[in-house]
Amino acid sequence: MRLPSVITWNAKTLDTFITAPQSAVKGTKMSFFGEKDPTKRAVIIAYLQGLK
Ligand code: HEM
Repeated sequence: MRLPSVITWNAKTLDTFITAPQSAVKGTKMSFFGEKDPTKRAVIIAYLQGLK
């Protein structure tokens, strides 16, 4: 899924991005291939939210 050109980062947009960075943000230099497992994405997002 493609994200808009101005992104408000929240759990939902981050989830979309880390699912498939290259298709979520056209032209991103982020070379991470993406995490297909929704359980693992949820763990990553919970970890990042815990850093606030
Ligand atoms: C699940 C792990 C990861 C998460 C959650 C994550 C998250 C993000 C996010 C949210 C951004 C956008 C930041 C912004 O511009 O506002 C970003 C950019 C970036 N990430 Fe990651 N990232 C991850 C893994 C990686 C890995 C493994 C690499 C390197 C191989 C990487 C390299 C980059 C680079 C180079 C950018 C800048 C992209 C650009 O400006 O075009 N990331 N990352």
